[in-house]
Amino acid sequence: MTESTFPKNFLWGGAVTAHQLEGGYNEGGKGISIADLMTLGGPNHPRELTATIEKNKYYPNHKAIDFYHHYKEDIKLMAEMGFKAFRTSIAWTRIFPNGDETQPNEEGLAFYDKVFDECLKYNIEPVVTLSHFEMPYHLVTEYGGWSNRKLIDFFTRFAHVCFERYHNKVKYWMTFNEINNQANYESDISVYENSGIKFKEGDDKQKLMYQAAHYEMVASAEAVQIGHAINPDMQIGCMLAFCPIYPASPKPEDILFAQRAMDSRLYFGDVQVNGEYPRWLTQYFKSKNYNLDITDKDLEILKHGTVDYIAFSYYMSFAVKYTDHMDYREYSDLVENPFVKASDWGWPVDPVGLRYSLNWMTTRWHKSLFIVENGLGAYDKLTDDHKVHDDYRIEYLRSHIKEMKKAVTEDGVDLWGYLPWGCIDLVSASTGEMNKRYGFIYVDEDNHGNGSMKRYKKDSFDWYKKVIESNGTDL
Ligand code: BG6
Repeated sequence: MTESTFPKNFLWGGAVTAHQLEGGYNEGGKGISIADLMTLGGPNHPRELTATIEKNKYYPNHKAIDFYHHYKEDIKLMAEMGFKAFRTSIAWTRIFPNGDETQPNEEGLAFYDKVFDECLKYNIEPVVTLSHFEMPYHLVTEYGGWSNRKLIDFFTRFAHVCFERYHNKVKYWMTFNEINNQANYESDISVYENSGIKFKEGDDKQKLMYQAAHYEMVASAEAVQIGHAINPDMQIGCMLAFCPIYPASPKPEDILFAQRAMDSRLYFGDVQVNGEYPRWLTQYFKSKNYNLDITDKDLEILKHGTVDYIAFSYYMSFAVKYTDHMDYREYSDLVENPFVKASDWGWPVDPVGLRYSLNWMTTRWHKSLFIVENGLGAYDKLTDDHKVHDDYRIEYLRSHIKEMKKAVTEDGVDLWGYLPWGCIDLVSASTGEMNKRYGFIYVDEDNHGNGSMKRYKKDSFDWYKKVIESNGTDL
């Protein structure tokens, strides 16, 4: 018999990450992370990745929305919406300011104790990402980021400390946020955010990306084993950016190319879920003469450190058309899909793609799934009486929840929960803007950090409260 609605214990809530939200970038003994060195960008100009903090530039993550000092007020608002779960990350630099210390920073650990306790006070499950685009900058300058095998030890030490400290408070974990974003290796910012690698002239970007991703996946698999040894009840997942890639037409070459494009973006899932590299990829490494540093011991670790579940973000779908090569390169190969509209930032909006994604993953990996990001970045207007009429956001979320519901009730997908992105407005990862807003809660702050920082409930706040109360029935 199929269920007609979501399971009773479905985890409704929202998601954020430390560096886009906390601020307090140099408080509590925190070190400088890669995100602290990213300037304000915009829809048409990328964020700069500076080597030091430059006086005449604006770094939006330094202050963000100052959750560091507002966490009680913010979590209270989430509780008011009825959140069952709240996803955030632990800033690596609060725990290990440089990344290579042997002893953690107690003040940083104590901060997250307070945050998790505050969630638990309202019966909100904390859902925690260990590494979300915020590695210590010292690991970039001294070690070259994830191009260096030594990072495995630094990361697993960090993971060990966090699991040991919080295993009684946090059940749901993820190792690396959107680990597969770097498959888009032509984008300097994606690789930098994931792996802390700054490309140099003449670098084989693709090869470097495969090597860095390998070390990260080994580190992730080791972390899974460490976590389970500390507390077998902890659920430790991978986290993928899931953008289905459709063929632009039924032409067989387009279909084959779209399949290769999906494989190239999502092989990370194959390794983290199945515990081994897919055959097409080992063959590809050979054809490219990529003698990557992949040892037999690494392969054993991958095999024994498979994840418990798959967390993923879903924002958009892509379409591709075969030209003259089978090597998927995101920027140059994407074509417009005439059947979907786009957001103000040009992100295709495709609710049906969410149902497709849930089914695709279930068929391929046979694991429980968890939507830990979804949402619409939009310009909001605060009215004189402090309201935000964000019917466009409600429409976006409603249409996605409807498709998610079909996947659960009609297709039998095993889905744990739904945590829309940026449940409270925060700094955009790609552009650094505050004006690209996702939240149910408006934060009065502009792109340059001006504003009262006051929090206001948007129309979507009451709407989402109703959705949670009715377990997804009242949309
Ligand atoms: C995901 C990231 O890629 O998308 C988040 O995990 C990010 O960190 C989110 O904020 C939305 O992207 P943006 O660029 O609109 O902030």
